[in-house]
Amino acid sequence: MSNQLILGVVSDVPVGTARQFDVDGDLIVVVNTTEGMFALEDRCSHSDVALSEGDVDGCLIECWLHGSAFDVRTGIPTSLPAITPVKTYSVSTDVTDPNSPILITKGTN
Ligand code: FES
Repeated sequence: MSNQLILGVVSDVPVGTARQFDVDGDLIVVVNTTEGMFALEDRCSHSDVALSEGDVDGCLIECWLHGSAFDVRTGIPTSLPAITPVKTYSVSTDVTDPNSPILITKGTN
């Protein structure tokens, strides 16, 4: 079963940045890229640190602790030491409208 949640609005997450949202204790990082907005579990699969504290480079977010990069479109790590994907969430929004709500769907994968 899935449910949809609103995590702020587009202007809360400028292009090229990531922001953490706490959804009833589940930490989710929303990443805004030139290819759109994406949402992932905000926890590196290598250890328990927040990906939202890392740098965004295109469609990659780099873990600040050991440097693994994750593709925000898929959650798949593209460099070691992480080898396990992180959970992703579908995002629906209008990135051209700063006031558009960021809608995510939980429980889909
Ligand atoms: S904790 Fe993220 S790469 Fe090690």
